[in-house]
Amino acid sequence: MKALALFALLACLVPGSLSMYYGRCQLAQTLQQLGLDGYMGYSLANWVCMAAHESSYNTQATHYNSWDGSTDFGIFQINSRYWCQNGDEYSSNICQIPCSDLLSNNLSADVECAKIVAQDSNGMSAW
Ligand SMILES: *[C@@H]1O[C@H](CO)[C@@H](O)[C@H](O)[C@H]1NC(C)=O
Repeated sequence: MKALALFALLACLVPGSLSMYYGRCQLAQTLQQLGLDGYMGYSLANWVCMAAHESSYNTQATHYNSWDGSTDFGIFQINSRYWCQNGDEYSSNICQIPCSDLLSNNLSADVECAKIVAQDSNGMSAW
C-alpha cells in the first residue's frame, strides 16, 4: 500500500515518464493544459470522471466490441468504427488518425479527437 502511494506520487511528479496509468491529479492537469476545462460546457471534473469510468486512467486500454468488430482505444475509449483507423475497412476515421495514436502517454491526440467527438455528438452523449 505504501509502495503504491509512493508510485502514484512519483507518477504525478514525473508526467508521462513512468506509467501508462495516469493519476487523477496528473490527468486533470494534463487535460486542462490541452484545453478541455469547460470544453462544450463540460468541466474538468466531468472529463476526468469520464476517463475514470471508461479506462481507469489507463492510456493503453482497449476494448473489442464483438457485435460490430470495432475496438475502443485509450483513456477516453474512442471507437475505431467512427473516429480512428485501425485497419477496419468500414471506419469513417473522422479524427484522421491511426487508433494507435490514442494509446500513447502523450494525450494530445486523445484530447483532439475527444473534442471532435464532443462537437460531432453535441456533448458527451457518445460516451
Ligand atoms: C505530444 O504530441 C504532440 C503532437 O504530436 C506534440 O506537439 C507535443 O510536443 C507532444 N508533447 C510531449 C510532452 O511530448
